[in-house]
Amino acid sequence: MPAEIVPTEDEIAVHWREESRIDPPPSFSDHAQIRDPALREQLDPSRGPDGFRAYADLLTWDRPYDRVLDDSNPPFYRWFTGGSLNASVNAIDRHLPGAANRVAFHFVPEDESAPIEAITYGELSGKVNRLARLLQDRFALTAGDRVTLYLPMVPELPIAMLACARLGVIHSVVFSGFSGKAAGERIVDSTSRFLITMDGYFRNGQWIDLKAQADQAARESRARNHSLEGVLVFERTPGRYQSTSRIRAPEEIALTPLLETTSGDPCPPVSRESNDGLFIMYSSGTTGRPKGCFHGTGGYLSWVGATTRYVLDLRPDDVYWCMADIGWITGHSYIVYGPLLVGATSVLYEGLPQWPDAARPWRISEHLGVTVLHTSPTAIRALRRLDPDLPQRYGAPFRLLCTVGEPIEPETWHWYHEMVGHRRAVVVDTYWQTETGGHLLATLPGIEAMKPGSAGPALPGITASIYDEAGRKLPPGSGRAGILGIEHPWPGLMLGIWNDPDRFRKTYFEPLRRGVWADRWIYCTHDAATWSADGYFRILGRTDDVINVAGHRLGSKEMESAALTVPGIAEAAVVPYPDPVKGAVPLLFISTQKTCGPARDLAAAVSRAVVEAIGPIARPYAVIPVADLPKTRSGKIMRRVLRAVARGEEAGDVTTLANPESVTEVRNAVAEILSVGTTGPSGERS
Ligand code: PRX
Repeated sequence: MPAEIVPTEDEIAVHWREESRIDPPPSFSDHAQIRDPALREQLDPSRGPDGFRAYADLLTWDRPYDRVLDDSNPPFYRWFTGGSLNASVNAIDRHLPGAANRVAFHFVPEDESAPIEAITYGELSGKVNRLARLLQDRFALTAGDRVTLYLPMVPELPIAMLACARLGVIHSVVFSGFSGKAAGERIVDSTSRFLITMDGYFRNGQWIDLKAQADQAARESRARNHSLEGVLVFERTPGRYQSTSRIRAPEEIALTPLLETTSGDPCPPVSRESNDGLFIMYSSGTTGRPKGCFHGTGGYLSWVGATTRYVLDLRPDDVYWCMADIGWITGHSYIVYGPLLVGATSVLYEGLPQWPDAARPWRISEHLGVTVLHTSPTAIRALRRLDPDLPQRYGAPFRLLCTVGEPIEPETWHWYHEMVGHRRAVVVDTYWQTETGGHLLATLPGIEAMKPGSAGPALPGITASIYDEAGRKLPPGSGRAGILGIEHPWPGLMLGIWNDPDRFRKTYFEPLRRGVWADRWIYCTHDAATWSADGYFRILGRTDDVINVAGHRLGSKEMESAALTVPGIAEAAVVPYPDPVKGAVPLLFISTQKTCGPARDLAAAVSRAVVEAIGPIARPYAVIPVADLPKTRSGKIMRRVLRAVARGEEAGDVTTLANPESVTEVRNAVAEILSVGTTGPSGERS
C-alpha cells in the first residue's frame, strides 16, 4: 500500500465536519423490525460464525446445511456448505400460497401517458417459469452455464434473472447504458452461451436502440474469438419491434412471440449447493480489465435478505422504490433479490428520475404510496437543484429514506431528511460494494442514531477497522484517515473473481496482510475512511484508480486505454474532478505525439473513444491536451499532482519529478480549458 494513496489531513479537511447524532423518531422505532440491540452480540465474530445461522434461517432450504462456515482455504470462504436451495423459489414460490395476488413490481414506463403495469407474485411466477422452460427446453441451458443479460429497467430484466436462477444458470447483467463494446468484453470474459437483450427502451424522452448496441456486443465477442450460440431479443412493446437492426435468423431469435407459444407448465427449480454461483457482476478495478465479481447462492441470499429486513426495514406491506439500475449491484441486491425475498412490493421505473420534470419522482411516490425510498446522493442533489421545495407539495408516506453509492454531504442529507422525509422518515446511509454483496456499514434504523455525513457503524457481524500505511489499526476517534478493512468473513462476500482466483486474493486480501496482521486475511475495501469515537465511519473515497461518478464505479485505466486507441495520443491520465451534482466527473489529461493534428480535434476524438469503449456515463468532463504529463523519475504519471492542480490546489512537493516544468503547463491548460468549458458536463445518464 503506497503511502501516497492514504489521504492527507488536508484532504480530510475538505470534507465536512462531524455532525451531531439524531435519534430515530418513536413513530419509526416502535415498529422497526430490529428493536433489540442483542443482535450485535449474537453476531459478534469473536463468538465464531454461528450467529449467521439466524440469517440462513430467513431462507427456505431444500436440504439443510452441514456447516455454517468452511474457512479451510482462506480467503475463499464458503458458507452454509452442504445446504441446497434455489434463488427463484426463495424470491417467488414460497410467497405463492399466501400472497400470489400481492404486487411484486409496479412497472412504471418512462412515458407518463403509458399505464403503470402491476405484476403480482403469481404473474411473476408464471413469466419466470415460462422463460425458464424455454431456456431449458429450446436452448438446452443447464446449471452452471452463463448467460449475459443486456436489458434496460423493464420487467423482463428481473424475469430473465430469475429464470436463469431457476435453472442454476449464472446470469451476468450488463448495464444497458454501457456500450456494445463493453458488453462484448463481458460476454467473452464470462464465456456466455447466449445474450438476452431487447429492441430498445425509453430514456430521457428518447428511444434508445439497444439491439444496435447488442449487435456491436456480438461483433466484439466474435472479434475476441468467442461466438455466442444465440441472441434472444425481447420487444419493449409486444407486437411492435422497433429497432433499426432487424433480427437475423437463425442466431438471432425474437423472444416475445416465442414465449407466447411456450408451454405455461411450471418449470421445476434446480436445487443448488449453497456455494454454487448465482451471478457475475462486472465492476471496475485497478487494471484495465473489468473484474467479474462472482456471487454464490446461500451466503449471498442470506446476507441480502437479512440486510433488506434489518437495514431497509422492508416488510411485505411496504411499497418500495429503489431508483438504481438493476444493471448495477444495488439493483441486483436491493431491487431484485432482497425485496423479493421479503415479499415486498417494488416500483420498477424505466427512465430518468427527472423526466419529464423534477416532480416525476414525487408524483410516482404519491400515486403508488411509496413508503421506503432508496436512491443516490447524485439523484438527491439533482432533484434538490431542480426545485428544493417540490417534495413538500406531494404526499408520499415515506418512512425510511436510503442513500447509497457515494458520500452524502450533510447539507444534502438534511434536505433529504427534512424536505423529503418531513423529519418523520429515518435516513439510512448504506456503505458497501459490488464485491460485498450487501451493506457493510449502516445504522440499524430503529435503534441507532443517524449522523449526517457518516455511513454509520459496521453492521452486526462485520468487524470493520481502519489501517494506516504500516498496517496498524487506528483506534476510533484518532482523527486520522486510513484504509477501511474488514477482519472476519461474512456471508455476502463474493466467492471470488470469475476465473481469476489470484486476482481475488491479491486485490482484496494482500494489501492489508502486513506487520502484525501478516497471518490474517483482512478484506481491503480500497476506500479511505475516518472513524469517530462513537464507532461511526466517514468514507473519504477510493484510494485506487477507481473514480466514483454519480455513485457509479469507473476504472481510470479503462478510460485511459480507450484514449490511447486514438492515433496521436502518447499518454493519458484520468483524475476525478469535483462536481456539485455527481460528486466527481472524470477529467482526462492527454499528451500528444509531436506529429498529430490540432489538440481540440484530438480531444473530441478521445472523448468519443471513451464513450464508445465504456458508454456515455464515462464521457470525460473535459479532455485537456498538454505536451507532457508530470512524471516521477521512474516514469510513473503523478495523478496526485494532476488532481491537485485541476482543483486549483497546491501541487505539493514537485522537486522529485522528472519534469517539474510540466506542472506549470498543466496549470495553464487547466485554467484555459476549464474556464471556457470545452466539453462541459456530459448531461448523460447517471
Ligand atoms: O467508494 C465507495 C462508494 O462506492 C464504492 C463501491 O461501488 P460499487 O461497487 O459500484 O457499489 C455501489 C453500491 C454499493 C465504494 O468502494 N460507496 C458506496 N456506498 C457509499 C460509498 N461511499 C460513501 N458512502 C456510501 N454510502
